[in-house]
Parts: sequence; C-alpha cells; structure tokens
Amino acid sequence: MYVDSLLRSQFGKPSGLFGALFMGPILNLSNTRLVNAAVELLDPQAKDTVLDIGFGGGLSLLALAAKAPEAKIVGVDYSREMVETAARLVRDKKLDARVSVKWGDVAKLPFRAGTFHKVLTVNSLYYWPDLIGSLREVARVMKPGGRLAAGFRSEASLGPLTRDWEGFWLYEPRKFAGIMRKAGFEALRVEHRDQGQVLDTVVVVGRKPVARRQSSTV
Ligand SMILES: C[S@@+](CC[C@H](N)C(=O)[O-])C[C@H]1O[C@@H](n2cnc3c(N)ncnc32)[C@H](O)[C@@H]1O
Repeated sequence: MYVDSLLRSQFGKPSGLFGALFMGPILNLSNTRLVNAAVELLDPQAKDTVLDIGFGGGLSLLALAAKAPEAKIVGVDYSREMVETAARLVRDKKLDARVSVKWGDVAKLPFRAGTFHKVLTVNSLYYWPDLIGSLREVARVMKPGGRLAAGFRSEASLGPLTRDWEGFWLYEPRKFAGIMRKAGFEALRVEHRDQGQVLDTVVVVGRKPVARRQSSTV
C-alpha cells in the first residue's frame, strides 16, 4: 500500500530527494517509445514554437529538439525537481539557446494567448483533475490552426497496474478524443499501437480551429 501511494505521488509530481535523484531516469527509460511516437505525430517544424507540458525527466524536450533542429521549445512542469533536472539536462546537451523550462501548472499556463504552434504532452493528463478546463487552457496558449499531440496509456493498459490510485484518471483513446472535441479542438487522429501489451501506446492529435470570419450583414 505504501509503495503504491509512493509510486502514485512520484509519477504524478516527482518530489524530494527520491524525485530529484531517481524519477528523471526512471521516466525517461520507461517512456521512450511513447514519447517518440507522440513527437513523430506532433511533427514539429523548423520555425515552430513548441510547448511541452509535464516533461518529467526531459526526454521529450531532447526528442523535440532533435526532430526540429531550429524550433524554439519551451517546457512547463509543476514539479520543481523535474524543472531543475531538465534544466541541467538541457544545459549539458548545450541546447539552452533554444530549449527552456519553467515551473507552471496546466490549469493556468504562464504564457500569453496564441503563443505556440504546437503542443506536446505525454503521460501527464492522468493527473489533471479538470481535463476539459485544462485542455481549454492549452487551446488558449495555442495559435489558431495549431496542433496538439497527447500521448498516454489507455485505461485497459494502465488500469490493472494502478487500481485504487487516487487523483489519477484514465481514458480510452476515443473517449479522450471526445473530451478534446468538447474542449474546442478538432480531433485529427487517434493512434493506438502496442495493443494487448502491458504498456500500450496512444497518441491523440488535435487542432485548434481557425476562427471563421464573421460575414457582415447589410
Ligand atoms: C508520469 S510523469 C511523465 C513525464 C514525461 N512526460 C514522460 O512521459 O516520461 C508526469 C509529469 O507531469 C507533470 N504534471 C502532472 N500534472 C501537472 C500539471 N497540472 N501541470 C504541469 N505538470 C504536471 C508531473 O510533475 C510529471 O513530471
């Protein structure tokens, strides 16, 4: 029971000495395949400004930087330990000219409206208590026509491993796509790989609609 709640809290918000020392490498090792799939489907381009929400150990920041070598990448995470770990990683890899990280909560992102062309989030949305409200907040900081790629494990995959975890919400891929639509996105693609394996790979891709011009009535 203690191990269960330690895992729930460390995966949800790495903290303390354990979080600072171990959670970055653990997350990076266990999530490589999902992170790579989500980055591939986000398809970041050279001139894009990209936001990564809940980057944890920072693997996704490196994958984004490798995929789009001139893009500007900004990460936000509400674990101070993960922000420090990722900042070190970015400095060590000499990426700090175009990759930056800061503390922040998806519920109230510390950015102006319309800042980002693309947004990535991997394995973080299970911990967002108000999923629709958070997705609306994500849409706020995106440019019209911007693309969101959300990577996660399905309820069928993670459910048996996380029984009785409190403050942890799982989704089937199509259900998540429906919630994304309710939050105002167009759902472009639902990708479900590795079905039947212990950890599957889900990436749902959405787009913030381009507002239609009002036709004037005479
Ligand atoms: C399970 S880890 C996933 C890390 C990484 N994306 C990966 O897939 O390896 C979840 C991360 O999301 C962050 N997170 C959870 N809820 C958040 C929120 N409301 N705002 C910002 N970050 C959040 C946590 O601090 C943690 O670093």
